[in-house]
Amino acid sequence: MVSWAITGATRGIGLEYVNNLSADSNNEVFALIRSRTTAGALEDLAADRKNIHIIETDISRPEKLKETAAEISKSTNGSLDVVILNASSPGPDTFALSPSDFRGKEEALENEFYENVKANIISNIYVIDSLVDLIRKGHEKKIVFISSQSGDIEFNRITGLTAQIGYSVSKAGMNLVMTKIGAELAQEGIKTLSLSPGWVNTDAGKLMPREILSMQMIDIEAAKAVTGDPDVRKWIIGAFHKVDPNVEGPRPVEESVADQLRVIGNLSAAESGKFLTHHGNHDQWF
Ligand SMILES: NC(=O)c1ccc[n+]([C@@H]2O[C@H](COP(=O)([O-])OP(=O)(O)OC[C@H]3O[C@@H](n4cnc5c(N)ncnc54)[C@H](OP(=O)(O)O)[C@@H]3O)[C@@H](O)[C@H]2O)c1
Repeated sequence: MVSWAITGATRGIGLEYVNNLSADSNNEVFALIRSRTTAGALEDLAADRKNIHIIETDISRPEKLKETAAEISKSTNGSLDVVILNASSPGPDTFALSPSDFRGKEEALENEFYENVKANIISNIYVIDSLVDLIRKGHEKKIVFISSQSGDIEFNRITGLTAQIGYSVSKAGMNLVMTKIGAELAQEGIKTLSLSPGWVNTDAGKLMPREILSMQMIDIEAAKAVTGDPDVRKWIIGAFHKVDPNVEGPRPVEESVADQLRVIGNLSAAESGKFLTHHGNHDQWF
């Protein structure tokens, strides 16, 4: 059996990881979620597949994560092969602001950074800390962080996208933390990877509510850039075309996760600590 733990497994990419992996009875899948209120589809899947274990936890609370590790350990005899750090949201409702829009809004600026750093960096370090002893006893010994093209400097430089500063910075920051953790654990045979999933057709990939447009406080162009409005979609695709002239929209989640699993499967000690796309390179973002 290969054991997997996936955070943020109720919806989108996390749910598809559970779906894809649990289709193979050689996998044992631990779906870590913060609440059952959004877990209907996951519960339905788990009702059919006995190799799915749903565990409610709180990735921001080490003491809760200790219980989670103990629960996983009971089923796996103290080991875990792969952990996928997937849980994330775009952050507070200031996500559409560009850096200069925060002038005079210091509290909002601090919150924009703190909420994203807490979710994407600090909480993920807590998850790794709580599960690393199990990973040490696993066969695969892989820790994977689901990052984003938003966390790549060159992607931002070329597209010229200016919003989501806290989210982008926290994804870039966690990429670096993953490199450091990879260096620290290399001697034990543990490998780390930051993985960009591409533009994926999930709630997050649909790019945010229209209501944001009515918020007077924000830069209207930046706000439009993160909504699902057709005109806005055209605008954002125009920005994405600067890095890939062929991208037309988000890809099905099934395709992205299948690609991601290939990259995870190929992860070697030599590649550990890298930030790769779902194609396994560092320039094909879509
Ligand atoms: N979709 C894309 O195009 C895209 C592009 C680049 C990167 N990504 C990354 O891919 C990952 C998955 O995104 P997605 O598109 O699948 O998003 P999604 O459909 O919005 O799902 C997000 C998942 O994360 C959970 N979550 C969010 N914040 C959490 C928190 N603070 N604590 C615990 N769980 C939390 C959600 O749980 P609830 O159901 O409880 O809310 C949900 O299960 C994220 O790391 C995202 O940054 C996605």
